[in-house]
Formats: sequence, structure tokens, C-alpha cells
Amino acid sequence: MKEKIHQILKDVSGFSPENKEEIEQFRIKYLSKKGIVSGLFSEFKDVPKELRKEIGQHLNDLKNNVQEKINSLNQSFEKIDEPSSSENDLSLPADFIQLGSRHPLSIIRKRIIDIFSKIGFTVSEGPEIEDDWHNFTALNFPEEHPARDMQDTFFIEKNPDISLRTHTSSVQVRAMESGKIPIREIYPGRVFRNEAISARAHCIFHQVEGLYVDNNVSFADLKQTLFYFAKELFGEKTKTRFRPSYFPFTEPSAEMDISCNICGGKGCNICKYTGWVEILGCGMVDPNVLDNCNIDSKEYTGFAFGMGIERITMLKYQIKDLRLFFENDLKFLRQFESAI
Ligand code: PHE
Repeated sequence: MKEKIHQILKDVSGFSPENKEEIEQFRIKYLSKKGIVSGLFSEFKDVPKELRKEIGQHLNDLKNNVQEKINSLNQSFEKIDEPSSSENDLSLPADFIQLGSRHPLSIIRKRIIDIFSKIGFTVSEGPEIEDDWHNFTALNFPEEHPARDMQDTFFIEKNPDISLRTHTSSVQVRAMESGKIPIREIYPGRVFRNEAISARAHCIFHQVEGLYVDNNVSFADLKQTLFYFAKELFGEKTKTRFRPSYFPFTEPSAEMDISCNICGGKGCNICKYTGWVEILGCGMVDPNVLDNCNIDSKEYTGFAFGMGIERITMLKYQIKDLRLFFENDLKFLRQFESAI
């Protein structure tokens, strides 16, 4: 009996039909009332008691095996049938192609670039792995100065001169060192800081910084440029205000707030009921920085500014948790504009 079962299993596994008709014949041959498998079940009553358990098991396996084989063969023939019939029918609608969408940070990055491009700023980029000079020293952060604590980063043990840039101001230094004046550029890019990840901070984020160096560049130019930017991005009714601040590389330095775009300045939990939200840091380039980059600070002046793209995007789309930008959850990402 065991050998018989074995032989049948072999035949079954070697069966490869040309069409559904042959599968039906196969089913009748093995599983119908007078079929081979049913025949074996009737022979089962003659099997000695001590072998019954084992042979019974084999018989059941065989029956299941044949049934599974029939099911899967039927399925594979259905699959072959389907496309051929629809492929030939040209009147059917085309398959749906799911369009991707831009990442919200890319959308806002592009908007910021477009706004500054309209008033003559060009885009420049620099390395994410920087040396101490471009990221700190040239920007008037003396070694060991506590101002460096505001921007702790990731260093390489072997060579402490090399680190990940903490801001794209390092690209400003590269632009100034190139010696071509006037400079009217913006610097979008990824930056890194040694910060614990939370709803409001991440060790990786994105910035757009800007620099304008020429004769007679004044704080009035800075204010007007950034006022224009805020209105373009957040709407015509947007108001701005400047608060004194501190950065080692600008003097005087300021932070710019805009009237809260959610409540229109009336007060809500986004602006913590002040009516204002901070969007960027800015100031007049410190003469030390110009001199460090071989630009004569008696002849030239400049202004600089820098903003976090995450922060602007959160305000623009009312996103409450910055970690969403990095989680790649399609349910979140698909809510923004579709790809152009
Ligand atoms: N580099 C500053 C930062 O990352 C931003 C800034 C740029 C401030 C230029 C003033 C002028 O925090």
C-alpha cells in the first residue's frame, strides 16, 4: 500500500496539463467516487491494525496533495486567461498609475528658492562634511568660545578638524573667499547638530541661508528683502518684526518674527498667544568675518540670514511634529502637492 501511494504521488507531481479540460480529467481519475484515491480508501479496511495509523496518515496526505494540485493548476490557468482577454480589448481603460508627490520639505525649499531668485539671488551649494575653519573659525567663533555650544556637532575622532556642518553659513565663507563681489546668493542644504530627537528638534535638518555683500549694503536692505520674502511666502497681509539677537558672525544680529499665519495675529496655541512666530536669524556680516575672507571691511558691507526649512514648512502646513518629515509614512507624504 505504501509503495502504491508513493507511486501515485510521483505521477501526480509530474502532471502538467495543457488546458483546463485535462485538469478535470485528472480530477475524475483520482478523486471521483470510482477514482484511484477512493479505491485506496476502500482497500484501507484490509490494512492490518498496527499499520493503520501510519497508512491512514499517508492516505489523507495523498488526498490533500491531489486536491491542492488541482486547485493551484486551476488558479494558474485563470491567471493566464485574464490578461490575454483584457490585453486584446483596447476599449478598456488603462491601468491606474499612482502619481508620486513631492516631499513637503522639497516643496517649501523650492518656493523659498523661487522667491529669492526673483530678486536676483542665485543658488550655491557646498560640502556637508566641513573643516573647522569654514564652519566655525572664519565665522568668528574662536576656539573654546562658548558660542560653539549653540551648535554642537559630530566630530571625527581621528581628525577633530573635520565635522558635519552645523549650518550652511560655511558655504557663505566659501563664497566670500572666492573673492568675487558683489555676492547675492542663497545656500540651501542639509545640516547636522548633536541634538536629541524630539517633536521640535532633530540631528539632521535643512536650511536656506542667504548672503548679500556689496558697497553700501545696509540694515534697511536686509529688512526690506526679508519683508518681501515673508509676504511672498506667507501672504500679502503678513507683518514682520525684528528682535535683537546674537550670532558670532553678524553685528548687529536679529531674529525675525512674522505675524502668526494661523490666527492672523490674534493669538493661538501655535504662536503661544503672542500673535508672532519666529522664522529666521539675520544680521549685518561682522567686519571680522569679511576680513577673515579677505574682503576689505572698510569698503564692503553685507547682510546674511538663515532659516530652517522644517520650521517654515511646519508653520506653512500646520505640522506639529518634525519627526513626521523623516518617517516616510506615505499617508502623511501624499497629502501635499502631487509631482509636477
Ligand atoms: N547660521 C545661523 C544658524 O544656523 C543662522 C544665521 C545665518 C543667522 C546668517 C544670522 C545670519 O543658526
